[in-house]
Amino acid sequence: MDATAATAPQEGRKFEKVLQILDGHGRDRSRLVPILQAVQEEYRYLPEEVMSLVATSLGIPPAKVYGVATFYSHFALAPKGKYVIRVCDGTACHVKGSQDLVDALQARLGLGAGRKTTPDMMFTLETVSCLGACGLAPAMVVNEDVHGQVGPDAACEILEGIRKMEGM
Ligand code: FES
Repeated sequence: MDATAATAPQEGRKFEKVLQILDGHGRDRSRLVPILQAVQEEYRYLPEEVMSLVATSLGIPPAKVYGVATFYSHFALAPKGKYVIRVCDGTACHVKGSQDLVDALQARLGLGAGRKTTPDMMFTLETVSCLGACGLAPAMVVNEDVHGQVGPDAACEILEGIRKMEGM
């Protein structure tokens, strides 16, 4: 068995899921955004080769799919960690010290400037403009869980709790 044959089943499964998503949306090009959302749920980001497949299957130019993916900040073009930590840096949170949270988490995660995801792909740290929970400022979200009135120490405790749960 050559190397191509050895990797083919894995590649096939990878694309099979995308094809299922496309079929689930009737391969309707007007459903491009929900299709990309479903793909992102599957991979946690939009791999380039998958965007090409979506474009080909819907009969639209890859540039259009790429354009939609870059227009919506919700879409990620690079892989993210298993845990995505979003610290709010909107006005209310900023005034209450959200930058201290970012600094503390960056230091604890060992993320240098410009690097958002840990090398082990466990954590991604981002800032967002407003989480819509200004009464809880400073606020952060870990995947879907909202944490309010979080100081730097509490943020690091949340992080360590996740690490413990993951056996890290
Ligand atoms: S400013 Fe942070 S939740 Fe609104």
